[in-house]
Amino acid sequence: MTDNLPELRDLPELHDTIEGLRAAVRKRRGDGHRIAFVPTMGALHAGHLELVRRARTLAETVVVSIFVNPLQFGPSEDFDRYPRTLDADLAALVGLADVVFAPGVPEMYPDGASETRVMAGQVGSLYDGVSRPGHFDGTLTVVAKLFGIVAPDVAIFGQKDAQQVFLVGRMVRDLNFPMSIAVVDTVRDPDGLALSSRNRYLDAGERQTALALPAALAAGAAAADGGTQAVLDAARAVIDAEPAVRLDYLDVVDPDTFLPARSDHRGPASIIVAARVGSTRLIDNERIILP
Ligand code: PAF
Repeated sequence: MTDNLPELRDLPELHDTIEGLRAAVRKRRGDGHRIAFVPTMGALHAGHLELVRRARTLAETVVVSIFVNPLQFGPSEDFDRYPRTLDADLAALVGLADVVFAPGVPEMYPDGASETRVMAGQVGSLYDGVSRPGHFDGTLTVVAKLFGIVAPDVAIFGQKDAQQVFLVGRMVRDLNFPMSIAVVDTVRDPDGLALSSRNRYLDAGERQTALALPAALAAGAAAADGGTQAVLDAARAVIDAEPAVRLDYLDVVDPDTFLPARSDHRGPASIIVAARVGSTRLIDNERIILP
């Protein structure tokens, strides 16, 4: 092993079977450990590592899953080209995660796509659910399976996927999973772009163009004193000034319902945006207070 590669003994314990993962978790529970769980699709970046660091503060054992879930990709989406970087992911998790669960598709779906699905309901068909029909049913189904496999005390999600966070939180409440959810703020590059595994699809020009998303959120947040419509107008003006950004949605939502905030909404709200830059679809959001 060369100097800049982690020692084998430092690598997290890796399991690709449900049985192996369950045995590892059982052993650690037997040692009195609580379990914090970070579900991911791999291609880990600094945003994921923040989730794992938070997990470390919440439990004695940290489990990370790496699974590109076919159920949450539409037929014309990037499932096949989604980056799969297991060796680099394991190296990034050295000293941060104790156990990594990286199953193949047949381990998770031995009978093909599972017939039993979790339905994301009305909110699941809005926003990302419009351009990605079935995406949230597929996401909640795999998250429920992973919760059933890992049986964590707490699972950690990133605020960047605001709609996913809302829906997972509601699923945990609605289906009485005996666990809690912790949410970590979006990690951004110094220029403001939210970290995403899909940022690697952007070329240099597109990456510059993509800065219109955080700029729109910042303009919207700065207009919060004027209420919902003022926020939308200010954010929209920034997007409209960048013709290479193809807007998918831009809205202000009530965080309690993830439905559009009323024009007279007061208190916490979130500006949410999704857009295509080149062939890459990006999402971002910002929490605001409407006075
Ligand atoms: O946010 C993600 O990376 C995925 O949607 C998740 C939660 C790992 C489920 O596949």
